[in-house]
Amino acid sequence: MDIKIKHLNKIYGDGYHALRDLNLTIQPGMFGLLGPNGAGKTTLMKIMTLMHEASSGTILFDDFDIRKHRKEIRSVLGYLPQDFRFFEKLKTWEFLDYGAGLAGLKGGKRKEIVDELLRKVGLFEVRDRWANRLSGGMKRRLGIAQAIVGNPKVIIVDEPTTGLDPEERIRFRNILSDVSDEDVAIILSTHIVGDISSSCKKLALLNKGELKFEGSPDDMIRISEGKVWEIFVTDKELANIKEKFPIISTIPSEGGWEIQIVSENPEGYAAKPISPNIEHAYVYFMDFLLKDKMDMYSETEGSDLFV
Ligand SMILES: Nc1ncnc2c1ncn2[C@@H]1O[C@H](COP(=O)(O)OP(=O)(O)OP(=O)(O)O)[C@@H](O)[C@H]1O
Ligand SMILES: [Mg+2]
Repeated sequence: MDIKIKHLNKIYGDGYHALRDLNLTIQPGMFGLLGPNGAGKTTLMKIMTLMHEASSGTILFDDFDIRKHRKEIRSVLGYLPQDFRFFEKLKTWEFLDYGAGLAGLKGGKRKEIVDELLRKVGLFEVRDRWANRLSGGMKRRLGIAQAIVGNPKVIIVDEPTTGLDPEERIRFRNILSDVSDEDVAIILSTHIVGDISSSCKKLALLNKGELKFEGSPDDMIRISEGKVWEIFVTDKELANIKEKFPIISTIPSEGGWEIQIVSENPEGYAAKPISPNIEHAYVYFMDFLLKDKMDMYSETEGSDLFV
């Protein structure tokens, strides 16, 4: 299922303009929605899942328009909200069974699917535990199980890996890549870039409600080539350099520090260029965004990858 976001705006009741003329096409596969706190990721996901209404513009799921075909769209959606909470007094299996009921599954088939999913997300052993007593990682896995129980065509997960340890993050990603098939779109928001580079072929970068980049992780890396440097500084120089450049990493070294910085031109320093990875690229993009330099950059460079 293709999702087309067209001239989408969201102005909240207090006048805050949270999404600004957003245009974006999302195709089946894993899609990453990246952006700092307050970028508008949750706002966009809530509009996609029909929890919020857009102020103007629209979203099409194939030919279904969110303004008209709410029932049809609801039936193809699976959603794991950022602030996902469990009802009190429901066991793990009951919680999923409830979700399966809402998805229209009945009888023996329903039990079969619930058990199968509990196994898939590694919760079968703890199926009789109260859902709200599961660990953070287990809760997230139960959350994704309820989001995928009805075989949705569009799966929307809002910051599913925040607060998870590395092992749980990998496990979570594996569950998602397991359910991805050629017709399912999985949209994953995060501010952990590593989550996106390893699983998403395409991503969008939002900042202050505006789309700033749309492309692949490799495109993002390519654009930041030649902007990431390694330099050696003494203790005394370190404080000074922090004021000048965004710093990616600081490693103690004989008589000072090896640091990685992002800069168009690190004049005055003996800087060695290094090949960027996705984390470097994100810092580079963020530096541009935070300084509101993005438009200027797109004009001078003429890159069609910038929006
Ligand atoms: N109900 C609301 N009323 C007014 N402003 C809101 C409302 N919900 C969100 N906002 C504002 O809209 C902006 C975008 O918020 P949103 O939650 O979509 O960001 P986000 O990208 O999901 O951030 P985070 O990474 O912190 O979850 C923020 O400035 C937020 O304060
Ligand atoms: Mg959010």
